[in-house]
Amino acid sequence: MSRLFEPMQMGSLSLANRVVMAPMTRSRADAGALPNAMMVEYYRQRAGAGLIVTEGTAPSPNGIGYCRTPGIYNDAQVAAWRRVTDAVHAEGGRIVTQLMHCGRIGATHNRPAGAQAVAPSAVRAGGKIYTDAAGMQEHDVPRALETSEIPEVIEEYRCAAANAIAAGFDGVEFHCTSGYLPMQFLAGNTNLRTDAYGGSAEHRARFVIEAMEAIAGQIGAGRVGMRICPGNPFNDVRDANPAETYEALLKGLGHLGLAYLHVVRSPLGYFDAFAFARANFVGPLILNDGFDGDSARRMAMSEARCAVSFGRHFIGNPDLVTRLRDRLPLAGFDTKTLYTPGIAGYSDYPAAALPKVARRQVRFDDIDAMKSLISESFCGWSNEVLVDQELVNRFADLSGDDYWIHTDPERAAKQSPFKTTIAHGALVQILQSRFQMPMEFEVIGFNNMLNYGSDRLRFPSPVTVGGRIRARARVKAVEKVKSGTQLILEINIHVVGNDRPAVINDLVILYM
Ligand SMILES: Cc1cc2nc3c(=O)[nH]c(=O)nc-3n(C[C@H](O)[C@H](O)[C@H](O)COP(=O)(O)O)c2cc1C
Repeated sequence: MSRLFEPMQMGSLSLANRVVMAPMTRSRADAGALPNAMMVEYYRQRAGAGLIVTEGTAPSPNGIGYCRTPGIYNDAQVAAWRRVTDAVHAEGGRIVTQLMHCGRIGATHNRPAGAQAVAPSAVRAGGKIYTDAAGMQEHDVPRALETSEIPEVIEEYRCAAANAIAAGFDGVEFHCTSGYLPMQFLAGNTNLRTDAYGGSAEHRARFVIEAMEAIAGQIGAGRVGMRICPGNPFNDVRDANPAETYEALLKGLGHLGLAYLHVVRSPLGYFDAFAFARANFVGPLILNDGFDGDSARRMAMSEARCAVSFGRHFIGNPDLVTRLRDRLPLAGFDTKTLYTPGIAGYSDYPAAALPKVARRQVRFDDIDAMKSLISESFCGWSNEVLVDQELVNRFADLSGDDYWIHTDPERAAKQSPFKTTIAHGALVQILQSRFQMPMEFEVIGFNNMLNYGSDRLRFPSPVTVGGRIRARARVKAVEKVKSGTQLILEINIHVVGNDRPAVINDLVILYM
């Protein structure tokens, strides 16, 4: 299997694979820059990504430039984002929010009441921007920030990062490209300042470095990534010497130890942004722009510190990781609905049909039907997952050579050698979400497969951070017992790259 589908650690972020969902503005937020149920579903469907980077999200009202884009600067937004992060985590995914301050990009109609366009200098961006209220409009002429106001903007970023963690995000990505506020500071045509934030490359990089220091100081650098695209002219920015600018920037950030650098291919033919990033940044890299399954596999195989992000392919393929891994055809998408309100062209793209066993419905008390599944319902090997602290915490109070997990506290209390209990459903989460193990049948007449009465799993080896686990399960037997129906799963678990590699073969009994 390609390294693309193997786990990866980026700072504090534990990715189950190296396929990252790139940030994409989709303009579906509610009034008040609020995430909504539609967005919960959209991100939940894409949780198979090793990491989701959300759409650009404003750290303050002044940061909003586009219509129907979300924010993360008040309590209501934090509560609304919490539903998104909970949904992604329940599927075993990881998600960071992209902090995007538009600066001079935007028109009054798109901005919340009282918000204003601010920028390093009062230079209007060329081109026009869409507004719901009045169609295409010129960008506002921004107000140049006073030197004394710059710490306030940095403070907005710091608070937004704190809010992101309160909302359950695994971290934040600092949007430092596409001509928004940070890049307006970096580029010569948008930054005409004569104070310590303008002029030399070191001075132009200063705003970004100070903002990154504030964010990292708040939530820990291991939870902070940054996105760059040197030489990107989008939104009318021009940098006469991107190599000099970005060298100063990355040098100034070197002491932080960021979780990752997200690098978009430079549109400048002569500038190899990936090579530049390799030479000037020591941590993990997420590489972006124009990858398909084969080129991403090759990139991941060529360098262990690289993940690859996909933007457009994630639009029509919510299950992109599965499709890439199983080499299934990729669906396209409708460009007309990229930024339109509603679920059409957003959360209504289906996952690929499972190629193996057709999905069947079986009543839980129909023993014969359940038995007939035994030969068919083989659940193949899962991806290898990197054992992270969160997973280890589940085993934290276990000791000795035999490790038992029991999800039924009453049974565990009565029976030796059960040494501990874990929350009901934890095993289910490990098997189904963490290992992305599909149960290729559906039991009806009962809530769903998550309602296990009890089960057990024996670990003969301590599971340590940095180890990897791979698992498969198949139905061994289905029996009617006094308390209901008993489903016995045969589980094979390989613990590799651990202190004590182990193969665990066990039976898990699920009562329904
Ligand atoms: C609909 C759409 C919205 C985008 N919005 C953002 C954004 O909010 N922030 C950002 O950094 N990049 C944004 N991008 C750029 C993508 O993250 C990505 O860099 C680009 O699509 C190239 O990658 P791809 O070839 O895999 O699609 C957007 C791209 C698309 C197609």
